Amino acid sequence: MSSKKRVLSGIQPTADSFQIGNYLGALKQWVQLQDTHDTFYSIVDLHAITGEHDPKVLHQRTLLAFAQVIAAGVDPEKSTLFVQSQVPEHAQLAWVLGCQTGFGEASRMTQFKDKSKKGGMDRTSVGLFTYPILQAADILLYQADQVPVGEDQRQHLELTRDLAIRFNNNFTKTFTVPEPYIVKESAKILDLQDPTAKMSKSLPAGCVFLLDDEQIIMKKFKSAVTDSDREIKFDTELKPGVSNLLSIISLVSGADISELESEFSSKGYGDLKQRAGELVIESVARPFKSKVDELMKDKAQLNKLMNQGAQKAKQVAGETLRTVYQNLGFVS
Ligand code: AMP
Ligand code: TRP
Repeated sequence: MSSKKRVLSGIQPTADSFQIGNYLGALKQWVQLQDTHDTFYSIVDLHAITGEHDPKVLHQRTLLAFAQVIAAGVDPEKSTLFVQSQVPEHAQLAWVLGCQTGFGEASRMTQFKDKSKKGGMDRTSVGLFTYPILQAADILLYQADQVPVGEDQRQHLELTRDLAIRFNNNFTKTFTVPEPYIVKESAKILDLQDPTAKMSKSLPAGCVFLLDDEQIIMKKFKSAVTDSDREIKFDTELKPGVSNLLSIISLVSGADISELESEFSSKGYGDLKQRAGELVIESVARPFKSKVDELMKDKAQLNKLMNQGAQKAKQVAGETLRTVYQNLGFVS
């Protein structure tokens, strides 16, 4: 048994490409944690069917997401990288946890409230409602100590903790109570067109997809919305657009924000945008895309890695589920 702390995180295969917010807010942490923690990472395809979907597209995006996680630096030898639907214990534990969750409690999840408001109740699936419970199952099955995510997932993590504590109190102590692992500086990359909103694939105009053509990425940076002032200063309240570009440059290059402020003190917004675009293309997008292309060429190898990951995940998930079933009083 490894004495390292356990980490679990997941990402949905719901786009043709990850965006720079996923990379800086999540994947970069996933990669760093591999050396110090016992890491489990999942492509959460069960979470990707809560709305309408096209099976062919989902299939392709799942392969692409798996390849992209590896391209970002997750090593399938160091980490357990797997596709959620290949480990049936996730759906099984989700049912059990659903029976521990209050209807009101689930109704208070802001992500559900936002999404269901947009679609209207009749077009909102029960799966979208129970989505955070499935997420709790993902985490608790692996007895994770820490869960690296962006700020938007904090409430789901709170629910996961509440469910773990409740189950442990109502039955026998079964689950590790996990902590969120949220890196403040990168927790929220903002939309380039509307720097008051989080960058998200649902707002493609201001979203930098890593597999996009380099010209498109550059164009998005060059047309980033800033402000009518001229000063390059980090101030998230008054200068969200400029601060967002500074954050991106700092996170990608490793330079301190204060260093960047003095470097850009005699330069204009155009230079800042140009630098951000160049850096993201050269240091992130270009090597990322070439690795993804290489991985996607060998589907047999990709499938092999998926099966290996699922088997490793199943060993841990199966053991937890057996304990859960026993502690609930199910016959064996
Ligand atoms: P999603 O694309 O919403 O499935 O998110 C996958 C992961 O990326 C989650 O851990 C999110 O919290 C993180 N993430 C998504 N968008 C951003 C963003 N704009 N800034 C920081 N992290 C993000
Ligand atoms: N809900 C997460 C998101 O949208 C994805 C996710 C599913 C997840 N299961 C998880 C994240 C378990 C962390 C741990 O980003």
